[in-house]
Formats: sequence, structure tokens, C-alpha cells
Amino acid sequence: MRILFVTSEAHPLIKTGGLADVCGSLPRALAKLGHDVRLVLPAYPQARERAGAERTAATLTLPFTPEPVGLREGCLPDTSVPVYLVDYPLYFEREGNPYVTPDGVDWPDNALRFALFARAATALALDQAGLDWRPDVVHCHDWQSALTPALLSEEPHRPATVFTIHNLSYQGLFDWTTFQSLNLPYKWWAMDGLEFYGRMSFIKGALVFADWLTTVSPTYAREILTPEFGYGLEGLLAHRGEKLTGILNGVDYSMWDPRVDTFIRRHYSPGDMKGKAVNKAALQERFGLQAQPDVPLFAHVGRLVEQKGADLLLAVLPELIKRRMQLVVLGSGDKALEDALRAAQGSHPQNLGVVIGYDEALAHQVEAGADAFVMPSRFEPCGLNQIYSLRYGTVPIVRRTGGLADTVIDADALALQQGRATGIVFDHPHPKALLAAVDRALILYDQPDTWQALRAQGMDCDYSWTRSAERYLALYARAGRKRPGAA
Ligand code: ADP
Ligand code: GLC
Repeated sequence: MRILFVTSEAHPLIKTGGLADVCGSLPRALAKLGHDVRLVLPAYPQARERAGAERTAATLTLPFTPEPVGLREGCLPDTSVPVYLVDYPLYFEREGNPYVTPDGVDWPDNALRFALFARAATALALDQAGLDWRPDVVHCHDWQSALTPALLSEEPHRPATVFTIHNLSYQGLFDWTTFQSLNLPYKWWAMDGLEFYGRMSFIKGALVFADWLTTVSPTYAREILTPEFGYGLEGLLAHRGEKLTGILNGVDYSMWDPRVDTFIRRHYSPGDMKGKAVNKAALQERFGLQAQPDVPLFAHVGRLVEQKGADLLLAVLPELIKRRMQLVVLGSGDKALEDALRAAQGSHPQNLGVVIGYDEALAHQVEAGADAFVMPSRFEPCGLNQIYSLRYGTVPIVRRTGGLADTVIDADALALQQGRATGIVFDHPHPKALLAAVDRALILYDQPDTWQALRAQGMDCDYSWTRSAERYLALYARAGRKRPGAA
């Protein structure tokens, strides 16, 4: 099957979160299964360099775009998966984050940038770039790619389209004037088009027009049909319910496994956990904490935003520091949360280590060195860190939502007895519930046999891509067959 991934991120080309992990690893898995998969991304400077995309493979003349648009060609590092980069320096040749300025404000021309990206992806999908390659399926991801299915829906002879919702809370909302400036069909300014309560919604371009919709866990697929998680789109999603399915993310164990991880101090495996203690000592040192092997070390890595419950973590800090434990946090995001964490660290340097920033190597080292990993997310479409934690023997403490609920089995009495438990799961997004979960973990930590069993059961879980990649393939095949006009 020929598959085109349309995405704004793919690890290791460019990454701000889990979207990149998925769009870097799922194509590899599909290619391994023998499929012809290619990616298209904006030509961010970092992506260009890492894809080795020196060569301009084609030049596109796009509607309503004054300058020609280059299509550079490189590949996903260490694979033969081709990557096309939409080269429009005015929009994409910017240092730093793909979506926000160095001050953390959205780039003011994001609508223009991602509309152009979608037009270029559409031309590529229709083989208008002169590359003599036409995908059977175009698989788009998140709002930055979401105008592609809409633009393709205008074409009588087009590939099938699949859209994956990685996070419904990012929708690409802009005002009416912006909609006008994009020169999109005027008929799309309607409730059954892109209009959303008086604004233009990029994500609706896919939710309305893509042949199939997926999201990244079965539980989140159900949650987004409710007002609490649907952000006003729950009605539309319910309407498209027959074409919406949840496929749990896989992870790439060639990068995230303590047996082979190139970022960590010492490798280890379920049969030989000695290396974990070495990584723990290194992590304590890195965060300026005393290297105490017996003090439980808890960790959090993530975007510091409300979604992730970083504020809940802050709220319980005054209690946590009273306990015999250490906590390390690596993250960046909301300035107020960053400042509050820094301040808390200043007041409690013995128990609390904080690194504000984005550091891929350190994220691996945290997984390897910590005893437990805390994810108090308010919502979590899938979540990858808890899956990484399982593999690293780092017991995940998670809220029962989205993919967290689908991947971690709570250590209740029955699951412990049956040897199925893999972590601690709590229900309410409330500091008290989080604290109670941490306390349960501390009790289990003090029972070495139970803790060891919990770890071993987690390390035994298999969330590699194979099964999920097969599910995507089955869906691609269905999407191709069921489309009106398809052969
Ligand atoms: P989301 O995509 O919502 O941010 P996920 O759990 O799916 O959440 O994926 C987050 C990914 O980003 C993981 O690979 C995680 O290690 C990484 N990550 C998040 N914050 C940081 C950070 N500050 N430094 C390094 N890696 C980070
Ligand atoms: C999003 C979600 C996260 C998910 C990731 C990859 O960023 O917030 O839960 O794991 O996408 O699908």
C-alpha cells in the first residue's frame, strides 16, 4: 500500500510532544511490514538538516500562493522512508518552536502557514508534483494537517483520507477575516463545513471531510463524544461515529528500552536490574539531590499545561516534601507553572529537583533512573510516558482517563494477587486523590517483593507497534474500498 503521512512533527526531525513520537515510529513500522510509506512536513530548519534534505525534488505552483513552493526530499534517519519537506522560507524558516514565538505566543500567521502546508500536501497526494507517485491513502495528523482532507474532498479522483486526532483541545481556531484571507471555498463557511461558533476551525476540515477518523486510544475515542472532552465537537463526532475508531499508540522499543537506550548511564533488563540503581544515582546527581539508593524517587516529564495536571502536582508539593521521598520534574510550558516549580525547588532543594526546558536525553534518563512516574492528566488521548515507564520498570501513577486508563492496571488487591497489576490508577483530578495515589505507591515501595512484582509485570507489557500498525492497515484498506467512486 502507498501511504502518505501529513504531519507537522516526526521524531527525530522535529518534536514538541507525542505526535512526533507517533509520526516518527508508525511509518517505520508500516515500512517494515512492506508498505511504501512517505511523510510530508513543513521544512523547519531542524527537520531539513536532520532529514538530509538538501535536494529540491520538485517545485509546486499552488493556487493563491505568489511564490513557487519547493519540495525538498530527504529521509527519516536510519530508514529508507522518504520525507518531503514543504519549503517556503517565509513561513517555515524560523528558529525554535514550530507553533509559537520565543515568547510563547502563537505565530500570528499560523493559519496561512498551515493552509499552505495543506495545499502542498494536497498537490503531492494528487501527484501534481511530478514525482510519479500517488498514495492510496493520505493519513493526516492533528489540526495543522486538517485542511488536507477538506481540499482533497473537492477532487473527483483522489486517494482515501484518514485523520488521527492526537489532541482535540488544539483545533486551529481563527477569525472570519483570516478565513477570507485563505481563499478557501466560500461554501465551507457553514456549520457543516469549517465554521465553528462564528470562527474558522482547521480541525473541522478533517472531522467533516476525512473518510475515516481515528484517535489514539479506545477510551479517548469514547470520551470525546461527551461534552467534558469534546470541546463543542462532540455532536459532530457522534454524527461521524461510524467512521471514528480508537487505535492505541504503539511505542518504538528500539529507542525506548533500558536494554538498548543510548542516552542512559547503564543498561538493564528484567533479569538484571542492577543497572537501574546506577541510573537512579546518576539522576539524583543530575538534579542536585542526595544519592540515596533507598529513598523512593518519583518523576514527572511533560508539557507544563493544565492538560497534564502539572498544577495538581504543584498543589501536593507541600505534602510530598514531608514524606521520605524525592521528586524530579522535567518540563516546559505555562510560564506561571514554570515559575512556581522553580520557586518550590528553591525552597526544598533536598527533596525536589526541577529542570525547566526540553531535553530529549534527560527524558530518557528520568525514565531509567526514577522509581515511579506521575501522570495526573486531566485528559490524555494516549500518553506515551506511562508506556515508556512500564518498559523501564518505573511504576506509573496515572489518572484513569484516555490512554492512561487503557495501558496501566491498578495495583488493587485482586490485580496484585493475580499478578496483573502494573501501576497505580486514581480517579479524580484532585490533589487529594493524587496524594492518596502517591501514598499507596509509597506503601508498596516499602514491600520490596510486591514492588518488584509490579515492576516486572510492567516490564513484561508489549506496546510495540506491530498490532496497532496492522489495525491502521486494515483501516486504510477499508477506507480505500468504501469510498464513493473508488475501484
Ligand atoms: P503529549 O504529546 O501530550 O505532550 P505524550 O505522553 O504523548 O504527551 O508524549 C510526550 C513526549 O514528549 C514524550 O516522548 C516525552 O518524553 C516528551 N517530552 C515532553 N516534555 C519533554 C521535555 N520537557 N523534555 C524532553 N522530552 C519531553
Ligand atoms: C497528543 C496527546 C497524547 C498522545 C500524543 C500522541 O499530544 O496529548 O496523549 O500520546 O498526542 O498520540
